[in-house]
Amino acid sequence: MSCKGLFLTFEGPEGSGKTTQSAMLARRLEGAGHRVLAVREPGGTAVGEALRDMLLNHPDQPLDVRAETLIFAAARAQLVTEVLKPALDQGRVVLCDRFADSTLAYQGFGHRQDLSLLRPMIEYATCGLEPSLRILLDIPPADGLARRLTEEHKDAQFRLADADTREWNRMDALDLSFHQRVHEGYLKLAGQDPEHWLIVDAKGATATVHARIWDGVSVLLPKATEAIV
Ligand code: TYD
Repeated sequence: MSCKGLFLTFEGPEGSGKTTQSAMLARRLEGAGHRVLAVREPGGTAVGEALRDMLLNHPDQPLDVRAETLIFAAARAQLVTEVLKPALDQGRVVLCDRFADSTLAYQGFGHRQDLSLLRPMIEYATCGLEPSLRILLDIPPADGLARRLTEEHKDAQFRLADADTREWNRMDALDLSFHQRVHEGYLKLAGQDPEHWLIVDAKGATATVHARIWDGVSVLLPKATEAIV
């Protein structure tokens, strides 16, 4: 699928700081004159938010892993058609907090689903749309989970299923070995296609991590978005 804009995704384990970094990058890009759209997965459409609720907010309801995988894919298909494709066709810089690589990392490596079955399903759901660059915020899973727990205790609003809060969800409740497989999976995916992945050390001050991201992203900007600046 070809388009005029620039499609950047944020990936990483729990508590890696994607949401904060995505917002900082969006502000910086807007400040530089780019037209930016920032969305998250699952979500970003009415259907996607309803599916998000089904996926994440009912940890007591068992969900078959194939059903889970297909619901993530359904939310993604809707997002591609309704939001991502039109924005990219308009030449926007689109930032997506998670995308198809989350399915490979979580359902593939984490839940041990066969990658060779997942890849064609992803291709179908996305109509072949792929990020120009995946920004992998790399943090050891134990540190990320600890960071999320700390934030939860800091903020009594944390459990609200609101678009701007990061609720403790079904995935967080899985054991550490699951999250370690997810982390290793991400590193493997990035290692197999280094041209399309930027691995960023997510430890350290927020501003430091942002600077690392900007170093990797800013080199892509002039050519990809010259039509809209
Ligand atoms: P969210 O609260 O957005 O977590 P985070 O801030 O870490 O992104 O919840 C999204 C959860 O869904 C997260 O645990 C990762 C998981 N997920 C999958 O398992 N597969 C997927 O395809 C996607 C998009 C997310």
